[in-house]
Amino acid sequence: MNPNYQGSSTAIPNIYGKTDLTYNDYLKVPDLLQLQVQQSSPVHHDEMLFIIIHQAYELWFKLVLHELEFAISYMQQSEVLRAHHFVKRAVEIMKLMVPQIHILETMTPIEFLEFREHLNPASGFQSLQFREIEFVAGLKDPTYLKHFVNRPEIIAQLNARLQGPDLRTGYFKLLKNLGFDIPTEDTDENREAIILGIKPIYQSPKDHLPLYLLSESLVDLDEYLSLWREHHVRVVERVIGFKRGTGGSSGAEYLRSTTSKKCFPHLWDVRTYLEKMP
Ligand code: HEM
Repeated sequence: MNPNYQGSSTAIPNIYGKTDLTYNDYLKVPDLLQLQVQQSSPVHHDEMLFIIIHQAYELWFKLVLHELEFAISYMQQSEVLRAHHFVKRAVEIMKLMVPQIHILETMTPIEFLEFREHLNPASGFQSLQFREIEFVAGLKDPTYLKHFVNRPEIIAQLNARLQGPDLRTGYFKLLKNLGFDIPTEDTDENREAIILGIKPIYQSPKDHLPLYLLSESLVDLDEYLSLWREHHVRVVERVIGFKRGTGGSSGAEYLRSTTSKKCFPHLWDVRTYLEKMP
């Protein structure tokens, strides 16, 4: 942090008569700017980029989670357009997250190698919030908990997400509450019945416009998460090639295998079931 930076403490009364709250107090900017602690010694110039880009993502992840939790609660109250409003905001954030990853390509592969060993064995596998986003969306894979050994508080948080509400089943329950003929249990046996339950929305969008908008915003969310995965793996290939990950995975090969994951597979499959109206 710039040692001369003190933050602004000028106390000018605002229209509400408050004098004591400054931009820096409100946003905790001085605190935020002290959180970039490099591990390399002597400090490698590019490590600042590496830290800040990850921190920026974690801040956006926090907001995405905040919005998705709200969307789920509106689904529970059958407030379709309110739920759509907050999913849409999460989508706009995710659109921004996709191109952001490419800033890392301004780092030469050889320069990354100069400080990579200092972050080992920290890994993206340990991004709690990324996993929470997956779980909250409906992609609940408990095998990822193994990356948090010796962190019982994180395991507890992820277990709560695993057992808690999610967008995928929240959406099925919403449709059921609105009178659609749809199972709410997400099992392989129910797969086709779920798709058939959703089908009227896609067969006749104009008759179900708020639900159609919500459904498509969920598909947008899936699409941009998937695009983030695609862009991340491209950057990884470009920077470390096919080296193993610091979290112990095969690296690019593992990441490529995640790009076909879907949070809302039924909303993708329903298109295959549509018929041209007579
Ligand atoms: C030079 C830059 C980067 C490299 C070389 C890299 C490399 C990797 C590798 C190899 C993995 C697989 C897990 C492992 O074995 O460690 C991984 C996973 C992951 N990375 Fe990155 N990464 C980079 C940048 C980022 C950024 C900027 C983010 C933003 C948060 C990020 C988030 C993640 C997440 C969330 C995972 C887990 C993905 C999953 O399991 O589906 N990575 N990364």
